[in-house]
Amino acid sequence: MLALGVHGSYKRVDEENRFGFGRHDSTAVLLKDGEVLAAIEEERLDRIKHSNCFPVRAIRYCLDQQSLTLNDVDLIATNIEEHTNAGMYAKSAFLDDADQRIPPDGRKFYASLFEREFGIDVSSKLRFCNHHLAHAWSAYVPSGFDRGLVVVLDGDGDKRSGMVFSGEGPRLIKLKEFGLNQSLGNLYTALIKLIGYNRFDEYKVMGLAPYGDPSVYSPILEKCYQLLPDGNYSLADRLVWMSHFDGAGLVDRARRKGEPFTQAHMDMAAAVQQMLEKIVLHVVSHFKKATRHDYLCLAGGVAHNCTMNGKVLYSGMFQKVFVQPAAHDAGGALGAAYAALSQERSLFRTRKAEHLYFGTHVGTDASISETLHAWGDFLSFEKVDRVAEATAELLANGNVVGWVQGRSEFGPRALGNRSILADPRPAENKTLINQMVKKRESYRPFAPSVLEDRVRDFFDVPDSQLDYPFMIFVVRVREEARGILQAITHLDGTARLHSVSKEVNPIYYELISEFGRRTGVPVLLNTSFNNNVEPIVDTAEDAIACYLTTGLHYLVIGNCVASKRALDPSHPAYGRLVVSLPRSRMLVQRQSQEGAERWETVFELQNTLSRFFASPRIKVSKQMFKLLQIADGSRTFSSLLGQERIDEGAEVEKLTRELIDLWSRRAVILRPGRCD
Ligand SMILES: [Fe+2]
Repeated sequence: MLALGVHGSYKRVDEENRFGFGRHDSTAVLLKDGEVLAAIEEERLDRIKHSNCFPVRAIRYCLDQQSLTLNDVDLIATNIEEHTNAGMYAKSAFLDDADQRIPPDGRKFYASLFEREFGIDVSSKLRFCNHHLAHAWSAYVPSGFDRGLVVVLDGDGDKRSGMVFSGEGPRLIKLKEFGLNQSLGNLYTALIKLIGYNRFDEYKVMGLAPYGDPSVYSPILEKCYQLLPDGNYSLADRLVWMSHFDGAGLVDRARRKGEPFTQAHMDMAAAVQQMLEKIVLHVVSHFKKATRHDYLCLAGGVAHNCTMNGKVLYSGMFQKVFVQPAAHDAGGALGAAYAALSQERSLFRTRKAEHLYFGTHVGTDASISETLHAWGDFLSFEKVDRVAEATAELLANGNVVGWVQGRSEFGPRALGNRSILADPRPAENKTLINQMVKKRESYRPFAPSVLEDRVRDFFDVPDSQLDYPFMIFVVRVREEARGILQAITHLDGTARLHSVSKEVNPIYYELISEFGRRTGVPVLLNTSFNNNVEPIVDTAEDAIACYLTTGLHYLVIGNCVASKRALDPSHPAYGRLVVSLPRSRMLVQRQSQEGAERWETVFELQNTLSRFFASPRIKVSKQMFKLLQIADGSRTFSSLLGQERIDEGAEVEKLTRELIDLWSRRAVILRPGRCD
C-alpha cells in the first residue's frame, strides 16, 4: 500500500502570502507498506528556508523518484484534523481577504489543491490526522521499539500544544494532552525575543545558554510557571511574564537583531533553557513512573532542543531514547502517513530508522561532470579514483570542503551527504567557517561526525545507547578529548554528536577513517552545506552556487574534486551567466521618506512571502533594477548590459559586484550560458 504524507499550507510560491508562517516546513513523504521510499521538505526544492508553500515540488519529487503518479497512491495523509485545519484554518486565513471566497468545505478545498496541481480528484484518498498524534507516530514507528513512552512537545496544532502516549505494539494510547496555554514551544519562542531572536531561531538559544548563569533570572522565571502533580504544569499568561520581565529591566535591555550579546542576554538564555529542561524532565519522569516504560520517544518542535534531549538521556530514566530527527512539522507528514497506514492495516509494526537519505540523488559521475564542466569558467575539477582518500588529504591539510554524495538527508541536519567538513581539532576552524560561509553568531558550536565504533574514545555516553546517527543529542566530550577536539567542543564541554556507521554511509565512514589514519582522530567537523540565507543544498547546481559565493576551499561532488578559479569581477565570465529572479522575489519601485527628510525613489527586490522566510526587502541600484526587469531567464548578463547600453568598464564592474552580492544572498539566480 502506497501512502503519501503531506504537510504545508495552501499557497503557491508566487502567491500573495495569506498564512504568515503557519504550516511552515512543508513536506512530502512516500511510504510503501510502511517503508520510507522518499521524503523531502519543500524548502530544498523551492529554495525558501522553512517554506510553507503547498508542497507541490516535494510531492512531485516523491512520485517521480519512484516513477509513480498520484493515481498510484492509495492514501494521502496530512497532519492536522479535518475540522480544525482544512476547515477552520483555511477559512480564517481567507477571512482576511474580502476578495476571496471562503472555502465551504475543508476536505473539498484540500482536494482542490491537488486537483489544481495534478489534475485529479483525490478526495476519497484523503486522511486527516491529529497534529500531535502524527508527531507521535513519527517518533514511535522509526524508534523500532515494541513498547515505549511517546512524548510530543510542540508549539501548537489542533488546539493543543502536546500529548503523551503509551506505545503498545501497534497501538498508541493517549495518556495526556497539553493545552495551548501550556505550549512550551510558543513560550520558548516568545521568551527568546528578549534575546533578539524570533521564530526559527529557537535552536540557537541552547548554544548561547552555556555562556550564562541560569540563577540570575531563574527567580523571575519561577514566578511564571508551576510544576503540578501527575506530570502536569501551568504557565502564566504572556502579560504576567512580560510584567515580571519589565519589572526586572529585561525588556529595556532586550537585544535587538544584530546587536552584541550582553551577559544579561546569556543569563536569560541559560535560565530559559534550564526552565525548559525542568518542565520536560518533570513531565517525562511522571509518565516514566506511571507506565514503567524502558524506552522513550520524543517528537514535536521542542524535541529539536538537543541539549534537553541530552539531559533526558543522561537522566538514566530510560534504557534508550529515540528522538524523531525531523521532530518539527516535516516529521508530521511522515507520522500522518504512518497513522493512515495503521488504520488501514491490522498488522503494523515499528521499524528502526537506519538512515535519512530519502532526498534528491546528486547524480552519476557523468552528470556531475557535465554540470561542473558548464561552470568551467569559474572552477576546475578532476574525477578521482579514491575520493575519500583525496578529500581526507585536503581536510588533513587544513582545507574546508563542501561534500556532496548520494541522496540528500530528510530533516534539518546534514549527516554526511550535504555537509561542509573540516578538521575538528583547531579552535580557529570555528571562526574560519563562520567567516567563509556561515556568517553566523560566533558562539554557536559546530558538530562532530565520528566513526560509530570510536564514539566512546571521545564522548562520554551511556552504556545503553552507543549509536547517535541523527545528530539530535548533545553529549559530553570526554575530558581528555576536549583539548583535541577544540573546534567541536562547546564551552560546557559538550557536542552535538553524529555517529557514522559503515553499513549506513560507507563513503562517509571511509572518509572519516582516512582522516583518522592521517591525523589519529577519526572525527570530522560537520556542518550543513548552505550559507546563512538558504536551505541546505540539494542538487549539484545548489552546491556549486554555494561554493562559488563563499570562501570554501574545495567542492567534492560524487568522485569529482573541484577548486575555484580566482576571478575578478571584471572577468568576462560573469557576463556569460544567465540571470533570472527566484519566483519568491519581485521588483518593486516605491517612494520612501528616508530619515523623514525627503522623499526618494527606492528600487527593491521584495520577498513575496512573509518576513519569516527571507529578508523582506533588498535594495538594488536603479541600473540593476532596470537590468533585472528585462532578465527573463534566457539572457546573459552581458546581453542585459548591452540592451541598456552599459559598456563603460568601471560601471560594468560595479554592476557585476552588485550582481555577485545579490547572488550570494540568493536574490537572483545565475546559471552558465553561452556567449551571445
Ligand atoms: Fe508540530
